[in-house]
Amino acid sequence: MLIEKATEFIHIMYRELGYDEITIKQRLDDIQDQINQTGTYRHTSEELTYGARMAWRNSNRCIGRLFWETLIVQDARDVKDNDGFIDAIHKHLAEATNHGKIQSYITIFAPEDDNPPIIYNNQLIRYAGYENAGDPAERTITQLAQHMGWEGKGTDFDVLPLIYQLPGEQHPRMHELPESLVFEVPIEHRSYPKLKDLGLKWYAVPIISNMDLKIGGITYPTIPFNGWYMVNEIAVRNFTDTYRYNLLEKVAEEFEFDTLKNTSFNKDRVMVELNDAVYHSFKKAGASIVDHLTAAKQFEHFERNEAQANREVTGKWSWLVPSLSPTLVSNYHHGYKNVMKEPNFFYKKKAESTGCPFH
Ligand code: ARG
Repeated sequence: MLIEKATEFIHIMYRELGYDEITIKQRLDDIQDQINQTGTYRHTSEELTYGARMAWRNSNRCIGRLFWETLIVQDARDVKDNDGFIDAIHKHLAEATNHGKIQSYITIFAPEDDNPPIIYNNQLIRYAGYENAGDPAERTITQLAQHMGWEGKGTDFDVLPLIYQLPGEQHPRMHELPESLVFEVPIEHRSYPKLKDLGLKWYAVPIISNMDLKIGGITYPTIPFNGWYMVNEIAVRNFTDTYRYNLLEKVAEEFEFDTLKNTSFNKDRVMVELNDAVYHSFKKAGASIVDHLTAAKQFEHFERNEAQANREVTGKWSWLVPSLSPTLVSNYHHGYKNVMKEPNFFYKKKAESTGCPFH
């Protein structure tokens, strides 16, 4: 099984990169030897990097895949102790944030059969969720942090501590991220100044930390990775979903819309203006962000590139269609085959997973 998966991956990668069949044969012999001796094999750094990029390219839910070849990979496979772990996380935060010009970035710790450290958080940066404040999607991890002795301020935007476990240790540890490494954007609207009074903000870099990466039969369970935000992820989903910040009515009040009756179309108007606010607040703060229409155009570009390379683009329609004005973009008007190619990112099995899906 492992050798089959490895062979498939090596064939695809090495052929895409133009390696000859002799080189491929040599590498596969080497991998077979390693498997015979140790039961597994170790990716070269080139395989690790290209495998992670392929995993992004194969991510059916992601509209941002045009940039798959620009992913930066931090190889942290040999990091086992606390200082090394924290250094790798801090380095990821600093280099991915890049003073606002966000860089797509992944840090890859040891594979599952080589004692990896484990991260409990859903994203490296996330706001705590309390009974009456904060992000309801993070209540589980917030309770875990509190159970471990953490006390949040109780605001809507308390950055959660990192909760992680090192190989060989019995208990998880906790670490507060230095403020200087957490880029946050205060939200305001260019023509509705009262919006500022709500004190909304959001962090600039969404670093998913609850998925597995599978490359050539090897599973990497600790692989924080990020791109940059598409505006509607924050404005439409995080701020407006009723089971998230549920802000529609509060924002409508600040905008001084007198009614939210369905037929006034003010609910829709709030949504559009909130996207405008988030987008331009990010720009003003110097943080990368993309609007939904541009992102969809970039995805069309990706589809053309893939067609040219003779690869089929798989996708999950319900995720690729943006959550604001979906019919304005081409994705809406055709279907995608939702088949999982590998390498890819996978949700963890329920039992190990610590929280809610992040979308
Ligand atoms: N939707 C998630 C959030 O709002 C982030 C998922 C990843 N998004 C991205 N643009 N890379 O936190």
